[in-house]
Amino acid sequence: MRHATHGDEQPLHALATLTFGLACPPGTTKADIDHFIAANLSAERFAGYLADPARIVLLASGDDGPVGYSMLVRGPIADPDVAAVVDADTSIELSKFYVLSDRHGSGIAHTLMTATLAEAAATGADSCWLGVNQQNVRAARFYTKHDFAIIGVKRFLVGSEWHDDHIRLRKLP
Ligand SMILES: CC(C)(COP(=O)(O)OP(=O)(O)OC[C@H]1O[C@@H](n2cnc3c(N)ncnc32)[C@H](O)[C@@H]1OP(=O)(O)O)[C@@H](O)C(=O)NCCC(=O)NCCS
Repeated sequence: MRHATHGDEQPLHALATLTFGLACPPGTTKADIDHFIAANLSAERFAGYLADPARIVLLASGDDGPVGYSMLVRGPIADPDVAAVVDADTSIELSKFYVLSDRHGSGIAHTLMTATLAEAAATGADSCWLGVNQQNVRAARFYTKHDFAIIGVKRFLVGSEWHDDHIRLRKLP
């Protein structure tokens, strides 16, 4: 587990390509998933995220290479549904949290979450929030185990389709 830095954009893009669709509801088209990855999860976009001082990106690796990543984002909240229930001055967003499917249930996600929450707390934030698709039952169970409570709903655009998310939040130590 380590901070991702300049030079990690290609492995992060590769991880994102393998994992983004896992978080989408059944029926999401490949075209919409590909569109979202090209627009938001390209190596170029990751290079920008890595250079942004408002973001913290963690990379988890196993013996065979990268297996998961997370990204925290500090700053203003653009989504009005989130801004209505989350205080941007005291909360930090867990914007991305993805593990390769063959590592689900392995404990890697728990280790990555523990490290991510420690990073979040170290920024001085009081709480951490995230958005997750309402049909993503595995992630819902995982986030509940990690004390993220549902505090609202929002929508999330993937290609041409709006998806329904839960907004979840947990206190930080
Ligand atoms: C979300 C994610 C990081 C969680 O990691 P994980 O290793 O799968 O998590 P865990 O195995 O510790 O926990 C998942 C829980 O869901 C349960 N679960 C699995 N499939 C389930 C299902 N279909 N319905 C209900 N619960 C389910 C598991 O049994 C486990 O609960 P338990 O520990 O009480 O038995 C990982 O699944 C992932 O990367 N998913 C794809 C990307 C994603 O959805 N990211 C979140 C985007 S917001």
